[in-house]
Amino acid sequence: YVIGVDLGTSAVKTVLVTREGKVAFEASESYPLHQPKPGYSEQDPEDWVEGTVASLRKLVAEAGIQTDRVDGISFSGQMHGLVLTDAMGQVLRRAILWNDTRTTEQCRRIEATLGPKLLDIARNRALEGFTLPKLLWVQEHEPELLKQAAHFMLPKDYVRYRLTGELASEYSDAAGTLLLDVTGKNWSEEIAAAFDLPLSLCPPLVESFDQTGGLLPEMAARTGLAEGTPIYAGGADNACGAIGAGILSEGQTMCSIGTSGVVLSYEERKNLDIEGRAHFFNHGEKDAYYIMGVTLAAGYSLTWFRETFASGQPFEELLAQAEGVRPGSGGLLFTPYIVGERTPHPDSQIRGSFIGMDASHKLPHFTRAVLEGITFSLRESIDILWSTGKEVTEVVSIGGGARSELWLQMQADVFNATVIKLESEQGPALGAAMLAAYGCGWFDSLQSCAQVFIRPAKRYIPSEEAVRQYEGLFSLYREVYHATRSLN
Ligand code: XUL
Repeated sequence: YVIGVDLGTSAVKTVLVTREGKVAFEASESYPLHQPKPGYSEQDPEDWVEGTVASLRKLVAEAGIQTDRVDGISFSGQMHGLVLTDAMGQVLRRAILWNDTRTTEQCRRIEATLGPKLLDIARNRALEGFTLPKLLWVQEHEPELLKQAAHFMLPKDYVRYRLTGELASEYSDAAGTLLLDVTGKNWSEEIAAAFDLPLSLCPPLVESFDQTGGLLPEMAARTGLAEGTPIYAGGADNACGAIGAGILSEGQTMCSIGTSGVVLSYEERKNLDIEGRAHFFNHGEKDAYYIMGVTLAAGYSLTWFRETFASGQPFEELLAQAEGVRPGSGGLLFTPYIVGERTPHPDSQIRGSFIGMDASHKLPHFTRAVLEGITFSLRESIDILWSTGKEVTEVVSIGGGARSELWLQMQADVFNATVIKLESEQGPALGAAMLAAYGCGWFDSLQSCAQVFIRPAKRYIPSEEAVRQYEGLFSLYREVYHATRSLN
């Protein structure tokens, strides 16, 4: 067996996977999120460690396996979170998470100080969620703490450090800090120096599938696993999500609709200039990258809509009614900017809209318009891929958006691409398990692992008529952002 650990924002999930790629057992453990002030979002790293240990213990006990049957463990983790530790490895403050928005000023400072160098080196714009702005916030507001800090770590790197005693980071997560020279694959001295940060704060870098020590005796005793079980570095949740969906070669793209929505495409052209219009991060695959666009409120728009206008109705019922409405929702158009937007508009102030309301519209028109609006927002990310010369003919759909036939066909029609649904879907936890499976030598590449572990179940082919209809509506949709921006 191998084990994948997915350190999420609300819970940690662990999966025990066989050589055939079957998830034999899974367990999870949740932990609290602290929001002491508006815009603040923090977690206690000790809760992650306790949660991971408890989840591993449950997994091992339920599976009833012998302790030495596990060949490797690896990680997927929520990105960007800042964990600060002193020279003894003691945590200095609660971790500041990816969805914390206190750092708008620090982002402006980063953009102003580095100018075009930011995109040249870190390949991404400064967004509140990223790690460097958080470090600058601590530098400004808690300077004594930063002076005591020996290292900063990303969430899953800290948990791995506690399980193994070894300090390491890997490229896919380091890419989300704004301190990495993304294509040079080094921490950037230039960026660190521009903000008076010692480069020694940054942990040594390894590849996602590299071994970073073995399970410490104390952790072996607490989890029921064997002492010294090999631990592999792992990756950012989006990189692991891509690996778990088989996005491992040029031309492969996925669309993941959860609370937020992600369009992610494999990329090997390291000199490709996308001018910061989408994220450009290192993949878990060696010397590969991915381009990623994010819709902040994807599934969240639908959840908000149901709670506000149709509470009590199950999602299945709502979606079944929307199926009776024709593409275009009878002229009703929705923009899903209810908590702002990321791609293609990095704008935390913009808000959503329904336009084109008609006295004949009923609840199902609104439901369908919400689904279409979310899908149009994701299509804007697909367009960024097209603009780089990339062919997007197939898209693997995962997450909540892949649970509805209506939505899967809508994705095919709006993206004008064949949409593929997978047989079983374990998301980033499976990607993490695959990194362990490749790392420990079960396979000679991640791709050959994917051939065994990942199986497509169904394909959705775009309908010519719907594609034409949606093209017209999409050009209207794109105008709504500019037309409503001044209203916010
Ligand atoms: C990516 C991002 C989120 C977190 C969530 O840029 O902020 O996807 O990784 O875990």
